[in-house]
Amino acid sequence: MTQTQHDRLLIIDFGSQVTQLIARRLRELNVYCEIHPFNLVTEAFLAEFAPKAVILSGGPASVFDEGAPRPPAKVFELGVPVLGICYGQQVMMHMLGGHVERGHGTAEFGRAYVTPSEDRIDLLKGWFLDTREQVWMSHGDHVSKIAPGFAVYGTSPNAPFAITADLERRFYAVQFHPEVHHTPNGRTLYENFVRDAGFTGDWTMEAYREEAIRKIREQVGDKKVICALSGGVDSSVAAILLHEAIGDQLTCVFVDHGLLRLNEATEVVTMFREHYNLPLIHADESELFLGKLDGVSDPETKRKIIGGLFIDVFQKYANGIEGAEFLAQGTLYPDVIESVSFSGGPSVTIKSHHNVGGLPEKMGLKLVEPLRELFKDEVRALGRELGLPDSFIGRHPFPGPGLAIRCPGEITREKLEILRKADAVYIDQIRKHGLYDEIWQAFVAILPVRTVGVMGDGRTYDFACALRAVTSVDGMTADYYPFSHDFLGETATRIINEVKGINRVTYDVTSKPPGTIEWE
Ligand code: XMP
Repeated sequence: MTQTQHDRLLIIDFGSQVTQLIARRLRELNVYCEIHPFNLVTEAFLAEFAPKAVILSGGPASVFDEGAPRPPAKVFELGVPVLGICYGQQVMMHMLGGHVERGHGTAEFGRAYVTPSEDRIDLLKGWFLDTREQVWMSHGDHVSKIAPGFAVYGTSPNAPFAITADLERRFYAVQFHPEVHHTPNGRTLYENFVRDAGFTGDWTMEAYREEAIRKIREQVGDKKVICALSGGVDSSVAAILLHEAIGDQLTCVFVDHGLLRLNEATEVVTMFREHYNLPLIHADESELFLGKLDGVSDPETKRKIIGGLFIDVFQKYANGIEGAEFLAQGTLYPDVIESVSFSGGPSVTIKSHHNVGGLPEKMGLKLVEPLRELFKDEVRALGRELGLPDSFIGRHPFPGPGLAIRCPGEITREKLEILRKADAVYIDQIRKHGLYDEIWQAFVAILPVRTVGVMGDGRTYDFACALRAVTSVDGMTADYYPFSHDFLGETATRIINEVKGINRVTYDVTSKPPGTIEWE
């Protein structure tokens, strides 16, 4: 649990796929909240956390299951507002004296419309302007009798108790999911709930900056910190924040593996050394990485080689920094949340991910993670607060193994050179057409085939490349971006004219799944 000075809302997680979205909606409303799995929320935990309001999430269980998940009864004795969502609503009714009925195979899933009762409550301010409100349902069991003290404030054809409340105790229960996109007015409902609970919206990045700096100083004292700076948003924001807090006690190591984009190393080094005056070691180890990758074409082998070397190299430079006791990492809140997993069992490894996990123990370092409480868009807001230029903040994600996984087959310096140039033209095109911010990630992959073409009066025999552009919210699933034919044609012409070594351009229209975003 994190100690902050802010009013805190507790989300008790029962394993819904969309619990994180509840936290997102609340953070957008400048409300500080944390998600904790139901089995870790004890009475002692509640006392320490001291929430100003509680939300019970949805989840796949049934209150009839043996050992069905429950919040501690104490939640209902805290005297703070409680909102139960879907399973959270059912478990609330079950515990407070209502009745839940088994679904018997009649699940309600998808879009539904809720209409209001005569009485309008504050929770629904801004709702039903259009007489009915679209919501998203996803449940098997349903409430058949509401608990004493509750009244009905909204119904849908299949959910007579779609919205209920006990106004006296400020308990609210909804059968649908207000946090998802398909409940278009869901944010208003959360807003009404937190305003009723007395939240003032004190969670802003301006306030967070001060607080984070104070906490870093407390944690680190006069000791030294090292940070692996990649130039991505997370590590950049973490580094700048730390530098603001502890100045030259921080040293950053930027490992250049020779697999970066055009001018990337120079841009990162110039920005952090000159603009931020941050002590930075530019570890140019491209010879080492490219040497070890010579002749390797298997994707997993490439990833393992790069991951292993990265750790060795980082360690080598870090060992040279006398007295370093801490390692800074740009870990974000989604990596920290201990969500409940009902699926069980390890998931299949699709790709080995490149990171510095395991390093702190190996090197006997303690961790500093100043972004642990933040979602990605909060990190961006903090970056803006710290003066990072938009060109850095809005950058598309770039994978740790870099261009190696955009170069299927053997990696050669010639191919990397061609790839860098083609990628730069493609991104320039996207920016010129004002599409960069609509796209989650765009890049070129150079294919391990040469094809025949004709330029001027001559025959060419050059590489083919594939353009990739996807939209996504989290990189877990993705759709290909629907460029216009004009855009694609113009871009292909520019790449072929401006990049020697490419004579054919294709566009990758695979979504994820079944594809992945990167080619390897
Ligand atoms: P895939 O290709 O698995 O990628 O659909 C999903 C997202 O993750 C990025 N990616 C990586 N990021 N280290 C990283 O830091 C890696 O090893 C790595 N592999 C893929 C990818 O660019 C996309 O945004």
